[in-house]
Amino acid sequence: MSGHLSPIDTAKFVAAKRACDYVEDGMRVGLGTGSTAAWLVRCLGEMIQKDGLRITGVPTSTRTAELARQVGITVTSLDEARWLDLTIDGADEFDAELNLVKGGGGALLQEKIVATASDRMIVIADKSKQVETLGAFPLPIEVVPFGWQTTKALVEESLSSLDVLGDSTSLRLNGDMPFVTDEGNHILDLHLKRIGNARQLALVINQIPGVVENGLFIDICDIVVIGHGNGKVEV
Ligand code: 5RP
Repeated sequence: MSGHLSPIDTAKFVAAKRACDYVEDGMRVGLGTGSTAAWLVRCLGEMIQKDGLRITGVPTSTRTAELARQVGITVTSLDEARWLDLTIDGADEFDAELNLVKGGGGALLQEKIVATASDRMIVIADKSKQVETLGAFPLPIEVVPFGWQTTKALVEESLSSLDVLGDSTSLRLNGDMPFVTDEGNHILDLHLKRIGNARQLALVINQIPGVVENGLFIDICDIVVIGHGNGKVEV
């Protein structure tokens, strides 16, 4: 499965593979979204085929659900599973306190709900995702389509009193059309460069009418497994 991989794919693969050590027979596992999480899903599929691992997966997007079914993972909904033993997902950024920026793939809402409904969340990431201060990666905010331009203006206005650098937002596009999430919403990407107080920013943004959720994951992640291009892994 890991044939001839580029350094970046090697890093993602080894992080995903190592995270599988935390998965035990019978567990209900939240399955993240993105290219690193896709490696996890493939690794779990291999463990099911080769080692007879039995797990139930709760995917965080239609993309992940499709891949999980393809590799033989039994898939159920969060409503069916109710509570999960573990969620394993990628991230766009993580800092020393294990706070995250997520949503580069547009699945932040389901990802946050699923991770919050889990005993433990493990992030798998290549080393480039590690940052001293969050914010270089644009912060995704999921908003309802109705009145999104007003929501955008309110988000930008709310930043003036906060410890951030930058205040521009852009509507995420899919070609010429607004990107649409699995929940039928849009994504605003907030270009901040630096987020001084992530907890405060998350609270302020989520109070704005029209905002469904933001991509800051505060006090949710328990462990980060970091993969390197040379195949080494740090936990
Ligand atoms: C999707 C996410 C992803 O986990 C994040 O974007 C990282 O993706 P990748 O593993 O492809 O770098 O939050 O909404």
